[in-house]
Amino acid sequence: MKGLVLSGGKGTRLRPITYTSAKQLVPVGNKPVLFRVIEAIRDAGIDEIGIVIGDTGTEIRSAVGNGKRWGVRITYIQQDAPLGLAHAVKISRDFLGDERFVMFLGDNCIQGGISTLIEQFGRSDHNAQIVLKRVADPRQFGVAILDEEGRIERLVEKPREPQSDLALVGIYLFDRHIFEAVHAIQPSARGELEITDAIQWLVSNKYQVFPYIHEGWWIDTGKKDDLLEANRLVLEELEPQVRGYVDRDSQLIGKVIVEPGAEIINSTIRGPAIIGEQTRILNSYVGPFTSIYHHCLIEESEIEHSIVLENSTVRGLPHRLEDSLIGRNVEVSRSPLKPKAYRLMLGDNSSVGVL
Ligand code: G1P
Repeated sequence: MKGLVLSGGKGTRLRPITYTSAKQLVPVGNKPVLFRVIEAIRDAGIDEIGIVIGDTGTEIRSAVGNGKRWGVRITYIQQDAPLGLAHAVKISRDFLGDERFVMFLGDNCIQGGISTLIEQFGRSDHNAQIVLKRVADPRQFGVAILDEEGRIERLVEKPREPQSDLALVGIYLFDRHIFEAVHAIQPSARGELEITDAIQWLVSNKYQVFPYIHEGWWIDTGKKDDLLEANRLVLEELEPQVRGYVDRDSQLIGKVIVEPGAEIINSTIRGPAIIGEQTRILNSYVGPFTSIYHHCLIEESEIEHSIVLENSTVRGLPHRLEDSLIGRNVEVSRSPLKPKAYRLMLGDNSSVGVL
């Protein structure tokens, strides 16, 4: 079996972070979501992985490389325009050949990996297998309607009035018949070849499509709050480990990971939390569900339930920072200048909540 990871797209819902970087490379628990996807596929025993890339391809290639670090072989497949997930399958035909494959969206985070799924599909004679998860608001996803026997009746992409609460998770298993489907369908209203329509085509043409209902957590990390939620869930599952320096005046409470080269000075870290390589926490409080990536400085400040990306500084804040996603090379600090005022330089589509 082969793996196909989709890592194109513009990440418009995560602007301004995604003006300068691919959404799949935003870390949760200090590891890019895309790396988690590659590891999940590798852990299921697949070592040939194709990654479909778009505008952010250069950055993805340099972050991921040839896959050696994970013991897999990576082939890059360029998608010249974001024409949809089914279009991505179409252009991956040469890489995939006639083998069965798992397609995994590079911004999806799932609990428990995919080994069971791969094993089940490998043993079966199904033509496709989809993964479903009950969600509170299915309108932002593909939605599956099952009949009384639990077979797929119908699939609808982002319905305005959903007939079920079963969302399509961004993990799909296919055999070669999916190529017939992606050639048969027409672009949707948003101008894309939808994978949901391709799977509907398989169902309508009497191919065996098996629905697997996932009971653990699943997050599509398309927006800030979803990223924070994925970060929270991932941090809860990590094992505490201190590989950096913690001075005597500091306290680590609960599950805390201190990565190599990090320094905690006169500070309290209340886990679950992770402090990245070469990051310094000085006279500060880092609260639960916080990931501070590498080469950051948190000084004279309090931060909780947040993600801070690399090379950023948070210094001297008079109030606690919460529910925040801070980008790369960002500086947030208290200004000593008079008159007292907020002095901001924010990128397009930023959002700031002040007291
Ligand atoms: C895509 C699919 C949708 C699926 C979702 C899962 O949506 O079109 O059916 O439920 O991924 O993450 P997108 O994130 O491209 O809007």
